[in-house]
Amino acid sequence: IKTIGVMTSGGDSPGMNAAIRAVARACAYYDVRCIGFYRGYQGMIEGDYTVMTARSVRNIISRGGTILKSARSEAFRTKEGRQKAAENLKKIGVDAMVLIGGDGTFKGGKIFNEEYNIPIIGVPGTIDNDIAGTNFTIGYDTALNTVVEAIDKIRDTASSHDRLFFVEVMGRDAGFIALNSGVGAGAEEILIPEEDLGLERLLESLKRSRRSGKSSSIVVVSEGDKIGKNVYELADYVTENLPNYDVRVTVLGHMQRGGSPSCFDRTLASRLCVRAVELLLDGEKNVMVGLLNNEITKTDFDKGLREDHSINKELLRISDILST
Ligand code: F6P
Repeated sequence: IKTIGVMTSGGDSPGMNAAIRAVARACAYYDVRCIGFYRGYQGMIEGDYTVMTARSVRNIISRGGTILKSARSEAFRTKEGRQKAAENLKKIGVDAMVLIGGDGTFKGGKIFNEEYNIPIIGVPGTIDNDIAGTNFTIGYDTALNTVVEAIDKIRDTASSHDRLFFVEVMGRDAGFIALNSGVGAGAEEILIPEEDLGLERLLESLKRSRRSGKSSSIVVVSEGDKIGKNVYELADYVTENLPNYDVRVTVLGHMQRGGSPSCFDRTLASRLCVRAVELLLDGEKNVMVGLLNNEITKTDFDKGLREDHSINKELLRISDILST
């Protein structure tokens, strides 16, 4: 392998730049040419790329976002799009790819490899943490810290005004962000897609909180929660049923994806991407790298696409105890 391509795809996440840097530096170390494609698969299709040297990734380890930009390419879903991408890789002389992204990125990579036999290593980069084969995805830790900091601030107002806040967090259809930030921020209730506790239970819990002397509450709601209502409908429902509560809604939105990555995410990105390059040079292909029990591991793409989410329900129990 003489040339390795790298790209970031899907929703950006803090630490993607640290990942790009690690790929470029590892390539330089092992004397391999590194090509960075812009906007994920879209750049591969359009032949939009830059040659990356050790110096072209200077001072990016601390920056949020991705210098290579990111996109969810519709064109790559088509046979024609993938064919163009394969032709471009051939033309540029790219022998293998490191794909940094989430499950959509890996699904695309798997099909691409089946069709064109280009060695690919996936690196899990998403704030959602919804990838099997790794305990942590790049960006998740930073997003948790961002959410906890935001909820701490919201709690100030909740407390000053004796209010009940519903705080919606991201995660697509996984509850990792909600569950862990909820425990970290001391939320009274946490609603996640993996566990539908029902509306009655929510009302009961809020009443119990009030009876126990709490004048304000925070309910963290995962955007994919399956309780059957979006966060605004949920707030309306509670207002109708508990009229003496002063209810507000905050949707944290894309601020969760931005900001300087935590040390954990920078280190994770660095470890995973050096290994990704080394695996390609060792002739490995079509696996994703991950961190399991603090060991860098490789997992088949198929197994990396997590359906069950393996959420730690123990945290729900802890949250129940601690919100007494
Ligand atoms: O996958 C990351 C994520 O931020 C999800 O948590 C969220 O559902 C989605 O992306 C939002 O996507 P977009 O940036 O396209 O609005």
